[in-house]
Amino acid sequence: MSEPDALRHPARTRSFTRRGGRMLKQSHQDAWERYAEALVLDVPRPRGADGSTGVDPAYRIDPGQVFGRSAPLVVEIGSGSGDALVHAATRRPDWDFLALEVWRPGIGHAMAKMGGPLPNVRFLEADAALALQSLLPPGSAHEVWTFFPDPWPKQRHHKRRLVSSDFAATVAALVPSGGLWRLATDWGAYARHMRQVLDAHPAWELASTGRAPLRPVTRFERRGTEAGREIVDLAYRRA
Ligand SMILES: C[S@@+](CC[C@H](N)C(=O)[O-])C[C@H]1O[C@@H](n2cnc3c(N)ncnc32)[C@H](O)[C@@H]1O
Repeated sequence: MSEPDALRHPARTRSFTRRGGRMLKQSHQDAWERYAEALVLDVPRPRGADGSTGVDPAYRIDPGQVFGRSAPLVVEIGSGSGDALVHAATRRPDWDFLALEVWRPGIGHAMAKMGGPLPNVRFLEADAALALQSLLPPGSAHEVWTFFPDPWPKQRHHKRRLVSSDFAATVAALVPSGGLWRLATDWGAYARHMRQVLDAHPAWELASTGRAPLRPVTRFERRGTEAGREIVDLAYRRA
């Protein structure tokens, strides 16, 4: 690939802002310093304004090499402070978990929750919508999880929502036939949007609206429930 292509820098997704900064609480910073070398993937970044959340589109990873074994891979998109990730990775040591998150304090927080580096977890500090277009081999994920993506409830912000037809195609390429994309949200309008997008997408068919088996109650679920919102779980199967 020629130099200009390798450094191609596609526009970043608008599903997140950098508001709130990148400052880590001391205990999360300590965990970051202890575990980042082992657990955070060091990937080549494109040059440019959004280089810190981009991944060179020419770069590929081999999950077998990253985890040093062959095991079912869960890709979690927007792992936040790692509640679902740490819960699931602890209960399924026979599965591997790759968490993509743009918010470094969340990654530090997740590491602090682990109480030691979990060998079946890796983090990538990156915009998932961009990175997943090229990073992983097709069909390499057993499941993909997107729990409580930022709802962007205002009409003028709907275009920032992570779940879109384009993103559905990106995720479809990661999952083999029969594999699952699990989603959860506490925003009825976003749940309807997810249904509309994925029901209309030829790669996906609705498999379940039951609670995802490894999804714990998190801050976002509690906040939604306390505000009187219904929690919606969706599992779509790769057709
Ligand atoms: C509302 S939080 C939910 C976190 C977590 N899934 C949970 O249930 O606790 C959404 C997370 O998605 C992350 N996020 C948003 N857009 C993203 C993107 N394009 N790539 C990776 N992470 C993203 C945000 O930084 C945030 O931490």
